[in-house]
Amino acid sequence: LDNAYSPPSYPSPWMRGGNQWQDAYAKAQTFVSQLTLLEKINLTTGVGWEGEACVGNTGSIPRLNFRGFCLQDSPLGIRFADLATAWPSGMNVAATWQTRLFKSRGNGMGAEHRGKGVDVQLGPVAGPLGRVPAGGRNWEGFSPDPVLTGVAIAETIKGIQDEGVIANAKHFIMNEQEHERDKNGNLDAYSANVDDKTMHETYLWPFADAVRAGVASIMCSYNQINNSYGSQNSYALNYLLKNELDFQGFVLSDWWAQHTGVASALAGLDMTMAGDQGLASANTYWGGNLTAAVLNGTVPQWRLDDMVVRIMSAYYKVGRDTARVPVNFNSWSSETYGYIHPQSNEGYQQINFHVDVQDGHSRLAREIAGASTVMLKNVNNALPLKKPRSLAIIGEDAHDNPAGPNSCGDRGCNVGTLAMGWGSGTAQFPYLIAPVTALRAQAQKDRSLFVNVSNNYDFDAITKAASNAFVAIVFANADSGEGYINVGGNQGDRNNLTLWGGGDELIKRVASVNPNTIVVLHTVGAVIVEDMKNNPNITAILWAGLPGQESGNAITDILYGVRNPSAKSVFTWGKNREDWGVDVQYTFPTQPGQLNFNEGNFIDYRYFDANNIEPSYEFGFGLSYTNFSYSNLQIVKNDPGPYQPTVGMTKAAPTFGTIDYNEANAEFPTGFRAIFRYIYPYLSEPVPRNQTNNWPAMAFDSTPQPRIGSGGSAGGNRQLWDTMYTVSATVTNTGTVKGIEIPQLYIHLGGPSDPKIVLRGFDDLILDPNESQTFTYKITRRDISNWDTSSQNWVISSYPKTVYVGASSRNLPLKGILQ
Ligand code: NOJ
Repeated sequence: LDNAYSPPSYPSPWMRGGNQWQDAYAKAQTFVSQLTLLEKINLTTGVGWEGEACVGNTGSIPRLNFRGFCLQDSPLGIRFADLATAWPSGMNVAATWQTRLFKSRGNGMGAEHRGKGVDVQLGPVAGPLGRVPAGGRNWEGFSPDPVLTGVAIAETIKGIQDEGVIANAKHFIMNEQEHERDKNGNLDAYSANVDDKTMHETYLWPFADAVRAGVASIMCSYNQINNSYGSQNSYALNYLLKNELDFQGFVLSDWWAQHTGVASALAGLDMTMAGDQGLASANTYWGGNLTAAVLNGTVPQWRLDDMVVRIMSAYYKVGRDTARVPVNFNSWSSETYGYIHPQSNEGYQQINFHVDVQDGHSRLAREIAGASTVMLKNVNNALPLKKPRSLAIIGEDAHDNPAGPNSCGDRGCNVGTLAMGWGSGTAQFPYLIAPVTALRAQAQKDRSLFVNVSNNYDFDAITKAASNAFVAIVFANADSGEGYINVGGNQGDRNNLTLWGGGDELIKRVASVNPNTIVVLHTVGAVIVEDMKNNPNITAILWAGLPGQESGNAITDILYGVRNPSAKSVFTWGKNREDWGVDVQYTFPTQPGQLNFNEGNFIDYRYFDANNIEPSYEFGFGLSYTNFSYSNLQIVKNDPGPYQPTVGMTKAAPTFGTIDYNEANAEFPTGFRAIFRYIYPYLSEPVPRNQTNNWPAMAFDSTPQPRIGSGGSAGGNRQLWDTMYTVSATVTNTGTVKGIEIPQLYIHLGGPSDPKIVLRGFDDLILDPNESQTFTYKITRRDISNWDTSSQNWVISSYPKTVYVGASSRNLPLKGILQ
């Protein structure tokens, strides 16, 4: 894969409406047709870093009283805003395996963004997918399994967009590690090199689900994909996204991920963020330069019109025309009064209106945090706790950060209990319930003796507290985040898979003096737990992930059995770091770094399974306070008829309105007072004429184009979602308490290069003791297809296929053949 090549794909597919987009497209056409060239340019280009209130802001259309777009992080809440919910992370919500919770968390986040005036919420995340366990931003996404991530991203998108806010699926694509992720001076970003089959079967899969769910915007990634930057990769944007997946929304760049003007426009980029070439650099690839490129014909009108009509279609599709309220918060200051243009200290006015958008969301946040807590071990009925005589809470991770939960910008430190990773994927905590707070309150209610030690290294105090307690609960964590912040020597990606703050040693010490030691882990992903698993004094292990503001309440619900654990691990817990087969590449011998995805589809459990590596705990594993049994597998075959590749031609590229090609009208108006470092659509110099044009001729072709076989509707050929089999099984609660079970369906596709099993479906069933319910999953054509590189389409191989149903990827009692 070294020096892999990304083939050119032009022209950039123009929007056609279709499916769920027809009404929005019609409204957008009407709107865009009345815009001048400069007004169109304004919607495509950010005004520059800290130019206005949001993390990203486009220009506006004053003539029509249309304010610019406000784009705001993050995938788990509203970055930099007050009086908003700090939700459990994406990885956590995935661990619930409950589609209802995926969706309602999306609804909650969307409603809050709407209330603050945000047009585009910069989330959810399917890239990183989670190729490497130490990848810094994995927790922003959902799971290294593309199917689980696909369902989670789709439901999150529906949730956000149903509330009138544009969701943003990011980062497209294969931004799988933080080290050397972006261009830095003369150093190029790494190139994530992948083969066509793996691209389709693993990395593109959840983005197909996102597009199918109607996602209205997508953010390109910083990295290169097969040696072409994400922001100008015509194969990734034009071919995969806009042609094959039939994406009708707009593509925006990650912040300063754009490196060319014309090339990125022709390759399918629709909006540039933050608008300036570099952080507050004052110059831009688009803005006035895009104006010049349109005026001299280097970028055809239809391509500009397509950018703008895509942006405005997204706006109408989610109902921004009725949902919009003024932006009433400010990312750059929490003061009530300040500068509306912080970069230039201009426009002093009220900038924070302190609108409380939290509604009753704390209850849902608590439910998700509890429902995402995976019980990995529970012996001797250690859990749930029943009014224990005494308990000792040990570890810094159970306690408050003395400086407050938001003391470090973008959560760029690890002090006190960990409830969120670091970077742009964060939010301000409105409050953070530390475990000790909720557990102490519970102990008080129960009249349990209660001691707590927050210093991980005060071994005298720890030994004393732990040895005298009926139960010792040790809290420990491992953190990671985005690469622009280094925490404890970790440049985004983790340096190791061990616990922070001496956590491993701490746990060992507590367990050596207390035979009823319970471990609670707040980690961004897998850590090595094999010793804890095998330690007889450790009676229970809980993974609580990054639970958000309700952390303490949620873990108390689980520990005391108010909530029966139902979560399942969304990644594999290896015994050794080497067990994953792939890892972060921290340095590269050559430039640009070649990050070769040689393992292909074999990431996480697919790798462990293929290499017969026994993990500590497998993908999909999680215990409950009750037990479940599986029986009665039924397979009903369905015949939807043969697969028809999409055929035919598109229409010719449309244009909307007319362009005034008089250069004088695109200059700064006389007497115009420009805001310092603010990006404008006006020409900054005379339009260059008679330049040699090196662009591929096909990039300018606006005639009807052939549609592609695997494409044709949102997410790909619509027949990929035909039902091929309906599989059902009976799940019974054989224990004594009510519980939720997550039945999982896996398939072996049968070929010699296929993983042993791949997840395809799951559900959540609430079962009373002795109650049985039927789990049903409809296996689609996509579910049993492989990507065929020669026909460039999905094909059902002739190999015999096996279906499995059970409680985890390694506990699959039911098995049948798909005839
Ligand atoms: C860069 C990050 O990669 C992206 O996820 C984020 O939305 C932007 N910065 C804006 O903060």
